[in-house]
Amino acid sequence: MSLAGQSVMLVVGGGIAAYKSAALARELQRAGARVETVMTAAATRFITPLTFAGITGRAAHTELWDPSFSGELHIELTSRCGLSVVAPATANLLARMALGLADDLASTALLAARGPLVVAPAMHPRMWTNPATQANLATLIARGAIVVGPDDGPLASGESGVGRMAAPEAIARAAADALCPKDLEGLRVVITAGPTYEALDPVRFLGNRSSGRMGYALAEVALRRGAGVDLVTGPSALAPPVGASVHRVRSALEMRDAVSALLPAADAVIMSAAVADYRPATVSTEKLKKTAGELSISLTKNPDILAELGAARGAPRPVLVGFAVETADLVGYARDKLARKRCDLVVANLARDGFEGDDNVATLVTATAVEALPRMSKVELASKILDAVATRARPSSPG
Ligand code: C5P
Repeated sequence: MSLAGQSVMLVVGGGIAAYKSAALARELQRAGARVETVMTAAATRFITPLTFAGITGRAAHTELWDPSFSGELHIELTSRCGLSVVAPATANLLARMALGLADDLASTALLAARGPLVVAPAMHPRMWTNPATQANLATLIARGAIVVGPDDGPLASGESGVGRMAAPEAIARAAADALCPKDLEGLRVVITAGPTYEALDPVRFLGNRSSGRMGYALAEVALRRGAGVDLVTGPSALAPPVGASVHRVRSALEMRDAVSALLPAADAVIMSAAVADYRPATVSTEKLKKTAGELSISLTKNPDILAELGAARGAPRPVLVGFAVETADLVGYARDKLARKRCDLVVANLARDGFEGDDNVATLVTATAVEALPRMSKVELASKILDAVATRARPSSPG
């Protein structure tokens, strides 16, 4: 992640999450940015301008009518900054931005701002789900705003729900990505994610420990790089990235149907889901009862969705990316999978490195190269995978 040489306007709204914006200022700074902080009057009630001055090395701006400043502060500031980050974006700030109000330094500067706009909403879930807030957000998204979060979790009120400001690292990453080229613009990418649940009876299933993090990270980064994203997801506790078309499935068969339906429009298919290879041969309509003896479950093979896609595709489209989670001979199995499933790229990792966590150690295997990557976050890995997709699926190529 790099913001080297960039000037970033960090607009801090008045919510309890404002204290986390100090960490965000630090992250932006660490990524190489020169940070200009603008605070609303309410923000200064939660955290002082001095905190930001200390971190960024520049006085935080709070007044539209700053007597120490002889020019037009909002124009000066926004001429210098090529990117704006609003964190926390309160419901009030989102509303003022959507309306184009200019009634304090923050809103006026945002109206005059140039370049990408990253907003990190934070508020109580009831305010977040209010149709007024959602309509304002939709307006901002339609104008190109990049929305990060809010996350689900414990809130200042003691309750829990969607409304927490995204982690400072995630916001800083979005800021860096906002300046990255939209090299997937015009492409439609189908991404599968998460586990599949194969029903045994009305209350039981066979599943696996896949969290969906890799697929959701791919969707998030692909969207940021301009792609249209269809996220076909098995059961996952994660919130899908804003802007993705989400197709929820449970079983491998449902996943195959969803992917097949999306295939005609797909420029690339990235199969990061941990699809079950087998499903119970019969699904009991009633709950299976405990009996005196042992219980054996007979399993039937699931279709291998990726192999089917590989066999059916008209090269070079869609670009096909498969995953290989192995416990040994990573590159050997990945090469075999690449050939057998007719993929363009196989992302191989050891089971101990990648399952469930936020980062991974992967090796990218193509017909001509093997690239062993160092440990990195799944979002960074997603960027690497999408680099490979971008070079193979140009919007201008025929098909
Ligand atoms: O052969 P293996 O199951 O290890 O291959 C893993 C890759 O194939 C992953 O990309 C996975 O999403 C995909 N796959 C599939 N359908 C299956 C099993 C795996 O598409 N039934």
